[in-house]
Amino acid sequence: MLANRRILLIISGGIAAFKSLDLIRRLKEQGALVTPVMTAAAENFITPLSVSALAGQKVFKDLFDLTQECEMGHIELSRSAELIVVAPASADIMAKMAAGLANDLSSTILLATDKPVLIAPAMNVRMWMHPATMRNVETLKKDGVTFVGPAEGDMACGEYGFGRMAEPIDVVRAVQQNLLAAKPNKPLAGKRFLVTSGPTHEPIDPIRYIANRSSGAQGTAIANALVSAGGEVVFITGPSEVNSPEGAKVVKILTADEMFNAVHEELPCDVAIFAAAVADWRTTSQSNFKLKKENGRLPVLEFTENRDILASVSKMDVGRPKLVVGFAAETNDLMANAETKLLKKGCDWIFANDVSSEIGIMGGSENLVVLLTSNGFEKWERMSKTDVALKFVKKITETLVRG
Ligand code: CTP
Repeated sequence: MLANRRILLIISGGIAAFKSLDLIRRLKEQGALVTPVMTAAAENFITPLSVSALAGQKVFKDLFDLTQECEMGHIELSRSAELIVVAPASADIMAKMAAGLANDLSSTILLATDKPVLIAPAMNVRMWMHPATMRNVETLKKDGVTFVGPAEGDMACGEYGFGRMAEPIDVVRAVQQNLLAAKPNKPLAGKRFLVTSGPTHEPIDPIRYIANRSSGAQGTAIANALVSAGGEVVFITGPSEVNSPEGAKVVKILTADEMFNAVHEELPCDVAIFAAAVADWRTTSQSNFKLKKENGRLPVLEFTENRDILASVSKMDVGRPKLVVGFAAETNDLMANAETKLLKKGCDWIFANDVSSEIGIMGGSENLVVLLTSNGFEKWERMSKTDVALKFVKKITETLVRG
């Protein structure tokens, strides 16, 4: 029932944290995509390793972790799911939510989100009955937070009363109700999309290669947004540190040649999006052995131009996708170069993308693009790659609906 539904699960500290492991297992059994976040206190009860192993996803923990921020900023994280579940929700995290505090990753996500929030409180009965907690419960209910539990029963501390976390099966039921009530908007259901992403690696010898600075973040964000909008997505990616989009068919390739073949194998599709930073050249021949230094003689590399994948699809006589979109990565003469590429490659739309190093787009979490179409151009303000993806997918949806 939860196939491909995106759930962000925040696990806060408490003896009931062990129940979140069973919860993840049950959500995954139903096909849900679970992104786990743990508070520092939660780590005293269960390990990130077991959470990550069950979720099949890395665990997000630190607000100020640069690597995590590069992969997915905390604001994007807060909006990437359809539903946020806090289980167990400790008295502390509920107090933070009620007060609007944002001093760690979980509380910041909860404050920054625009998605529905479901919480499964778990604490000692006295803590639950305390007027401060009761006040927080009222505030959270008024803020639109949905509760499941707590249940009544024996507590780990030996007392009896309300405060036990709801059983995982009840939390799953509440998740289902919440998501069904949310009536997912799947305007792209029944449409097939192909997205290329990331860099390609062109080998020189078994251990060396030529590549570029593309992280694959923009292509991944686009694929994620298409999946969320109900599209069937094939994601063809070069080597990338970014988590592959869940719910998409992921095809991993290394070289431009392999990307070319994978794209043509995966056609036909309704819309093809070429966000990959494909290497223009490969070495004409690759050594089977590691190249060695030879008395100061420098190796000379000879290059062959790679086939243009975008142009090959744009110019198909039969079975061309209805919409073909490219990215023009430029460091100078942005608009002129992008316009030339649009015409030369024969695609329908092209994003002019300033990738000069001082702007910090390649490898960063934001993007600055101008969308060129046959009707002219639209300059989009600088925004996160997730927001670029959402705006882009909205535009695709409008275009497909209009026919
Ligand atoms: N592209 C492609 N296959 C290639 C080269 C580029 O599909 N062999 C696609 C990219 O995915 C992108 C668009 O073409 O959507 C433009 O890529 P870009 O690197 O900006 O341009 P190039 O064609 O490489 O031209 P130049 O090197 O002159 O900038």
